[in-house]
Amino acid sequence: MSKTIIITGGAGFIGSHVVRLFVTKHPDYKIVNLDKLTYAGNLENLKDIDKLPNYEFVKADITDVDAIRAVFTKYKPDGIIHLAAESHVDRSITNPMEFIQTNIVGTVVLLNAARELWKDNMEGKRFYHISTDEVYGSLGETGLFTETTSYDPRSPYSSSKASADHLVRAYFHTYKLPTVVSNCSNNYGANHFPEKLIPLSINNIKNNKPIPIYGKGENVRDWLYVVDHARAIDVIFHKGIIGETYNIGGNNEWTNIDLIHLLCKIMDKKLNRPAGTSEKLITYVKDRAGHDLRYAIDSSKLQSELGWTPSLQFEEGLEKTVDWYLANDEWLQNVVSGGYEKYYQKQYVQR
Ligand code: NAD
Ligand code: DAU
Repeated sequence: MSKTIIITGGAGFIGSHVVRLFVTKHPDYKIVNLDKLTYAGNLENLKDIDKLPNYEFVKADITDVDAIRAVFTKYKPDGIIHLAAESHVDRSITNPMEFIQTNIVGTVVLLNAARELWKDNMEGKRFYHISTDEVYGSLGETGLFTETTSYDPRSPYSSSKASADHLVRAYFHTYKLPTVVSNCSNNYGANHFPEKLIPLSINNIKNNKPIPIYGKGENVRDWLYVVDHARAIDVIFHKGIIGETYNIGGNNEWTNIDLIHLLCKIMDKKLNRPAGTSEKLITYVKDRAGHDLRYAIDSSKLQSELGWTPSLQFEEGLEKTVDWYLANDEWLQNVVSGGYEKYYQKQYVQR
């Protein structure tokens, strides 16, 4: 069936993979990528598909009520897949207000626009909100986050995402807006902005710069290949039950320091450097304020009810990711130095 879907944040890391999957897998859908193009939005991420006839880009800010109403009136979307957000925890610690504006206010602006557009007929419509496992707080040595784990967000970023999740659910209960929410663990892969641990470390190793490890490097994250997240979003958008929540994760826990040791090994091999060269760049730095110790996701509901499974083992995915960064030096250089000057904050990339 032909549909028009607005994907917000489609120029960002995960959003660009979601846009690519939907545009190529669903040629009968019209995909509208709605993005403000902040420092994290990069249309170069989509240059391989941006000429396809079912793809369109619209530059808009989700906090701008009039602009969003105009886009909804023009395109009359059947579905919204909402990824636009401020996504970096460290930035939320230095500048919480942008996170409140975009992640909370922006989400409500979209919810209101969808409610207004669909008020006479909600049949076949869907507002899908993409969220994070960080809303559940921090785990100790054992246990997993499930869909019924109580919310306990601890950074301005995770608190803003938790707030948005609650508002999305409130619109389902109060106004019967057909919403779905998913909460995913840490993604990695191509087009990841080099302020985040993996791409930052790849970039620094390549340039013989220190790899900054916060605290003792003992914090644990559950890593998922970004294309597997995009596949999960496709499955949940089409088969997920209205009003439900689905956790998405890789069942793939790594302490930061073990992950960096593995990455150093791969980088030595790919750069033809003697074994042990990259490890010498590891530098322990001041810990992140309020640094959550461990995240780990139980995604059995998504696996058993909707039939999704991750496709890639971590070592294979990490090697693919390194290959992508080494083959796409121009992308990396453009992000690090080029058209991003206005927004780009040096401290997040080079350290
Ligand atoms: P990103 O920072 O790479 O991309 C965010 C995108 O949103 C950018 O293209 C940016 O231009 C756009 N954007 C920001 N503010 C906007 C605004 N006001 N109006 C319109 N567009 C705006 O983020 P990401 O890592 O791709 O994350 C995407 C979504 O997935 C976020 O909602 C995030 O919370 C969630 N998430 C991310 C991860 C992860 O590991 N990266 C894991 C789970 C969930
Ligand atoms: O869990 C999902 C979340 O994963 C998403 O919701 C966020 O949008 C995404 O940014 C990511 O958050 P993290 O804070 O886990 O990702 P980050 O890459 O910033 O950090 C990963 C771990 O590495 C974390 O424990 C902090 C640590 N770290 C990070 C950086 C940037 C370092 O030790 N050194 C660094 O330089």
